[in-house]
Amino acid sequence: MSKAQPPNIEKILFTAEQVDQRVREVAAEISERYRGRNLKLIGVLKGSVFFLTHLTRHIEIPVKIDFLAISNFAPQRAGPGIVRIAKDLDDPIEGEDVLVVEDIVDTGFTLRYLLQTLAGRGPNSLGICTLLDRTSRRIVQVPVEFRCFEIGDHFVVGCGLDYKQHYRNLEYLAVMKPDA
Ligand code: IMP
Ligand code: MG
Repeated sequence: MSKAQPPNIEKILFTAEQVDQRVREVAAEISERYRGRNLKLIGVLKGSVFFLTHLTRHIEIPVKIDFLAISNFAPQRAGPGIVRIAKDLDDPIEGEDVLVVEDIVDTGFTLRYLLQTLAGRGPNSLGICTLLDRTSRRIVQVPVEFRCFEIGDHFVVGCGLDYKQHYRNLEYLAVMKPDA
């Protein structure tokens, strides 16, 4: 039985079936691109966990995973704020082909900081894979290698994305009501 739609949801942007279809396509692209290499996916806690596990299940080549958490003390949603690592990776990434997995790239501040930090640890390559990309709000440019969906300027929840820590478990991607 599927879960009832919460009252604060304005509309469904992508259904669970559309998300699944697109995640499989991106997993196939990644499998192709990294065949014969040392792929490691790095999930940014907590939002990317759902996407990372979904993606990893459909990747057909050997893959390692690790996680880090960041704190973002942005005065407003627009950033820039102060980004720092709150929980670091368990293992080194030297010589590995690293893909940072994000739930959404918005202003780009979080990822710019992460890429700069991780680049200093000597990976063989460093890329970004994101479920959602909102390029209209980008302030700093970051190289997004793989993305499932480009979205407009609305606040989105589900598939790991939260509003005040809720709604991460929705199987679809939805737009919040503006007054929620
Ligand atoms: P930025 O790219 O540094 O601005 O940060 C992006 C981060 O802001 C994401 O990893 C999310 O945690 C959060 N975020 C941005 N937009 C949304 C949204 O629409 N829904 C939920 N979280 C969001
Ligand atoms: Mg995030």
